[in-house]
This record gives sequence, structure tokens and C-alpha cells, in this order.
Amino acid sequence: MKVIVAREVVEGERRVAAVPETVSRLVEAGLKVGVEPGAGLPAGHRDEDYRAAGAEVEAGVLDGGDVLLGVRPPPAERVRRLAEGAVSVSFLPVAEHLELVREFRDGGRTALAMELVPRISRAQSMDALSSQAMISGYRGAVVAAERLPRMFPLAMTAAGTVPPARVLVLGAGVAGLQAIATARRLGAVVGAYDVRAAAAEEVRSVGADFVDLDLPPLEGAGGYAREMGEERARLQRELLAPHVADADVLITTAAVPGRAAPLLVTRAMVERMRPGSVVVDLAAEQGGNVEGSRPGEEVEIGGALVWGGRDVPSQLPAQASRLYAANVAELVLLTTREARVFPDLDDEIVAGCCVTHAGEVRHGPTRELLEG
Ligand SMILES: NC(=O)c1ccc[n+]([C@@H]2O[C@H](COP(=O)([O-])OP(=O)(O)OC[C@H]3O[C@@H](n4cnc5c(N)ncnc54)[C@H](O)[C@@H]3O)[C@@H](O)[C@H]2O)c1
Repeated sequence: MKVIVAREVVEGERRVAAVPETVSRLVEAGLKVGVEPGAGLPAGHRDEDYRAAGAEVEAGVLDGGDVLLGVRPPPAERVRRLAEGAVSVSFLPVAEHLELVREFRDGGRTALAMELVPRISRAQSMDALSSQAMISGYRGAVVAAERLPRMFPLAMTAAGTVPPARVLVLGAGVAGLQAIATARRLGAVVGAYDVRAAAAEEVRSVGADFVDLDLPPLEGAGGYAREMGEERARLQRELLAPHVADADVLITTAAVPGRAAPLLVTRAMVERMRPGSVVVDLAAEQGGNVEGSRPGEEVEIGGALVWGGRDVPSQLPAQASRLYAANVAELVLLTTREARVFPDLDDEIVAGCCVTHAGEVRHGPTRELLEG
């Protein structure tokens, strides 16, 4: 069976879904691997590196592929060039790609969506949401340090003592914890807030103070955050306002699965920050945690610079690709038996991330979107 590693076509996407190391693993499992020329270049991998790992690299590898690996959802014309019954593995935000889902279904092809891999222990090595969030969190802290017109660490010099920068992180999941750890390593004093009960301990374990707002935790299924009601949101913003005003850097990462990002910080709250303060909104693409932030842009609000994240993991394509490729390879190998990739829908992980298979839409919420 032939696995194809496609060159990403979405502008700004610099990641690749397989790196030479994961190609070797697929080849060892008895699969043939074809890589589109130049696919790995933006992430630092040359065609010859893929060849050395056992891949065939040439134009036209897409034709007749049995498994298509990608980061973004593949263009429909690429899907049509695959073999009958082929399997596609990529991120696939279904609500934005219903036409593509129909294409997969009607062509009898299997679409596996990396963001739907269940977050259970056995699937940790396939958890692309976590691997990419970790990269975003690091990048968010580095962007803030670079944009802030002052140093992060405390410095005691003959000319006097320079106090450390104060960083506030809102949302302490995978991205938030990595942002905290990175800001701490750079010497900032960090405080963080999250609505999950477990967050206080997690925040302290990476060296930050937990900002206790004395509000009840907001947890839903699987220990994830629930959406805030309007009254809770208003109260939370009111209690957070003095902490935001006091911060030199605000990094927001809050998200609720399947919903738009919660609005945690209003324009008025940002306007109260000191001139030169920096806000990094890593949730900007999901609607934003900060009022007025725009994905991929830097805007001024009051005296603060507000950086809206867009394609953030793609800004560090080497490690983002390495981790994503490992997540993808684990999922492909889970579905590989005797050098054949065949999704076993009795497996909880495969069933969880399977959007279409054998002419049917298997993912309930997607079926509802298509029918509704
Ligand atoms: N395999 C696993 O078991 C597994 C895998 C990944 C993550 N997790 C855990 O799940 C949790 C969250 O993961 P994530 O980073 O993907 O979450 P996420 O990206 O969905 O959300 C980021 C953070 O925002 C927080 N948040 C949501 N609404 C908020 C609000 N109104 N105010 C403040 N914060 C708010 C969430 O609680 C979360 O911590 C973490 O504890 C993580 O360790 C478990």
C-alpha cells in the first residue's frame, strides 16, 4: 500500500505531515511511501532526506495513493486522485469543510480527523491538539518577550535593580502551561488563571502563582472547561480586571471544545494596561479571548500592542512537524496490519476520529450538520 505525503497548499502552512524519521517507521511496517517534491522544505527537510529514509520523491506521487497524509484538509481534486477506498489523515475541521466531507463520503473514502482523536491515555502519542498547543504556548511567550520594550528577568546591577516583567496567562491547558514555563525560564514573574479545578496545582507545578478569583470551577465532560454563562463571564472579567491592569504581558489561551473561544478580556480592560504592555491572544483564530484582537495582526489598543495568533504552530514548523508527523504515524500504524492500512472501527481511537468510511458519515455531529 502506498502512503502519500502531500505538499501543503494553504498559504502560511509550513508544516509537513511526515518527516524522514516517520517515513522510516512506515517503510519498516511494509508500506511504500511517496513524497511530493519539496513537501518538507518549509519544515527543514530536503527531498534527499526523504529518499534516504526510503521514500519515493517525485511529481505525480499523488495518483493512486492508498493513504494521504496532510496537515490541512486536502483539496477535493487531490482526494479524487486517490485510490478507491483510500484513507486520508489530516486536521479536518468538519463544520468548515462540509463539501469535502461529502466528497469523501460519495467517493467511498475514509477521512480521519486528527482533532477528533479521543484524549484517552492510549491515544496520547496521537494527540495532535496537545502537541501543537505546546508549540503555540512556547511561541506565544517568545513573541511577548520579543515585543515587550523591556526585559523579562530581574537584574541586579551596579546601576540599580531592574524588576522582572509580570506575565499573566489566562487558560492553563497545554498551551497555557507551556507559555508559563517559557516565560518563567526567561525570568518573568508569572500568574495564571483557569476555570478547571485541577489547574491551580498544574499552574504551581510550572512555577507560577495561581490567581484565585474565588469563583466556582467550571468543568464539563472529561474534565474540560464548560462555556461560561453571561453572568459568570461578567463577574470573571470584573475580578480579572485589576490583574490584567497590573501585567506587563497578557497571554490568553482559553478554549472550550466545540465552541467559540470565551471572551475573557474587554477592550476597556486592555486600555487600563500600562503603555508598552503586550497582549498575545493565542485564541484569536477561534474568535479571540481578547476583544479587538485579530488573527495574524498586531493592533494597538490604548497603549498596548495586541498580537493575534494565526497559524501559530506553523511559525515553528520544524518541531511542530516532527511532533505532528509522529502523531500521524502512530495513528497510521494503529490501523496497519500486515502492510495494509485498514481502519478498524471497533477500535475506540479510530472510531472516534473517523469522519467518513465506506460511503457513510460516521461522525454524529458532522452527520447532523450535513442533514440540518
Ligand atoms: N490525553 C489526555 O488525557 C489529555 C490530553 C490533552 C489534554 N488533557 C488535559 O485537558 C486539559 C485542557 O486541555 P487543552 O489545553 O487542550 O484545553 P483547551 O485548548 O480546550 O483549553 C485551554 C484552556 O482554557 C481553559 N478555559 C476555558 N474556558 C476558560 C475561561 N472562561 N477562563 C479561563 N480559562 C478557561 C480550559 O480549562 C483549558 O485549560 C488540560 O488539563 C490537559 O492536561 C488531557
